[in-house]
Amino acid sequence: MNRRHVLAIACVFATAAFTGCGQKDQSASEQYATTLTDGGVPSQGREKIMVYGCSGCHTIPGIPDADALIAPPLTKMANRNYVGGVMKNTPQNLIRWIQNPPAIDDKTAMPNLHVTESDARDIASYLYTLR
Ligand code: HEC
Repeated sequence: MNRRHVLAIACVFATAAFTGCGQKDQSASEQYATTLTDGGVPSQGREKIMVYGCSGCHTIPGIPDADALIAPPLTKMANRNYVGGVMKNTPQNLIRWIQNPPAIDDKTAMPNLHVTESDARDIASYLYTLR
């Protein structure tokens, strides 16, 4: 067993005992996504994707049972050039899109799901971990 294994196991026990060990310990890609979105929390975004029912239409990696094909899959969202085919894929634009797509493109089939700004920020940060 090397040092990393020992640390990982220690963290699992610490998490079980105190909770929270895993949260502080964000992966590099999660930290990057938080920086990009100015404070979005990917683990929260993952939960909120389930709450808002995004998987009713989208295939989304890492979300249980999110395999719908009504809308484009949100795979590799971090590497896309455009959001909805109409805007550059910047954190601010992605957050705006998630909040209210028809306000950006009146022909889009994605409905306004009334996602709050803070929830959209968390969701965008999760999507930016997908590369
Ligand atoms: C009723 C179906 C439906 C639901 C529910 C839905 N979407 Fe969409 N979404 C779409 C459709 C259709 C598109 C393609 C829109 C377009 O290109 O005009 C889309 C596009 C997107 C895009 C742009 C993808 C790209 O490749 O440019 C993102 C990001 C997105 N949705 C995120 C979400 C999130 C996050 C949720 C949940 C808060 C969600 N969607 C819920 C139908 C849906």
